[in-house]
Amino acid sequence: MAKRNKISLIGAGNIGGELANLAAQRELADVVLFDIPSKAEFAKGKALDLAQNGAILGYDSTITGSGDWRDCAGSDVLIITAGIPRKPGESRDDLVGKNIPIIRDVAKNAREHCPDAFVIVISNPLDVMVYEFQKMSGFAPNKVVGMAGVLDSARFACFLAAEAGVSVKDVRPMVLGGHGDDMVPLLSYTTINGVPVSELVAKDKLDAIITRTRGGGGEIVKLMGTSAYYAPASAAIVMAEAYLKDQKRMLAGAAHLTGQYGYKDMFLGVPVTIGGNGVEKIHEFPLTDAEKAMLAKSAASVQGVIDVANKL
Ligand code: APR
Repeated sequence: MAKRNKISLIGAGNIGGELANLAAQRELADVVLFDIPSKAEFAKGKALDLAQNGAILGYDSTITGSGDWRDCAGSDVLIITAGIPRKPGESRDDLVGKNIPIIRDVAKNAREHCPDAFVIVISNPLDVMVYEFQKMSGFAPNKVVGMAGVLDSARFACFLAAEAGVSVKDVRPMVLGGHGDDMVPLLSYTTINGVPVSELVAKDKLDAIITRTRGGGGEIVKLMGTSAYYAPASAAIVMAEAYLKDQKRMLAGAAHLTGQYGYKDMFLGVPVTIGGNGVEKIHEFPLTDAEKAMLAKSAASVQGVIDVANKL
């Protein structure tokens, strides 16, 4: 008998709820919305609300809330949002002390209950959490990716489209590096339907857009008092869909580097192909000297937080 896919969402908070909503509306898979035992009732309530939503919108995916890892067994995909989000004034890196014990707990349970899943990590500080997950779980590096580049690229595209007065559908953005304030929007590879963006947007405007993109998450935290959830959820769903449907999408994702761009033993945002074998390829392109310098700064920040995590 044909089998439905199964996605388990580890963390049933703001992003977890939106992930469940999107996965069900697209009928990508049956969904388990998992949270810690003290939040299991909350997860069950959210799942019930979303199941009833299916009766209105007409989707067949089942959505189950749970506080028991055994319900996640057999998952094809795990999307991890477990952790504490930022509050105004906090950087993503400030979360490391709180979120490292959480990702270690998740990694241990994922290894025990979902050893065959493709894993997408969203929790922050992203590049360090995905590194820690892979190290602690022992999952094959190609089965683990961090969601950040798709989101950072979306923020970049959104601001560029508004400035250039074009549809956001026509913007092809690329952002590399860590998911932090020194991420690297790549102007040399960002086009508006093939036309280099610098032909359509003035340099001072581009500089301002790069600054705004780097602080894009913080801008929302300041406005809402907590971190973004709609676009982060959509970004992870695009990655999950690329895996489940073997789409071979080229997306920016935090992948395990083994020398690419001069870095190894870390996860960092780079262009990857995601298909049925997970992260099937890491693409390496020539960078300008300025882009190389920005990437080096970003990688050094990520390494600094890895060093902190390694001491916890
Ligand atoms: N296992 C599973 N879930 C956990 C665990 C754990 N060990 N520890 C905490 N959680 C759950 C919380 O109980 C909470 O319901 O993770 C959920 C997080 O939800 P929110 O607080 O609403 O946070 P959210 O906005 O979804 O962001 C989650 O993603 O973008 C990042 O910075 C953000 O690290 C944060 C994460």
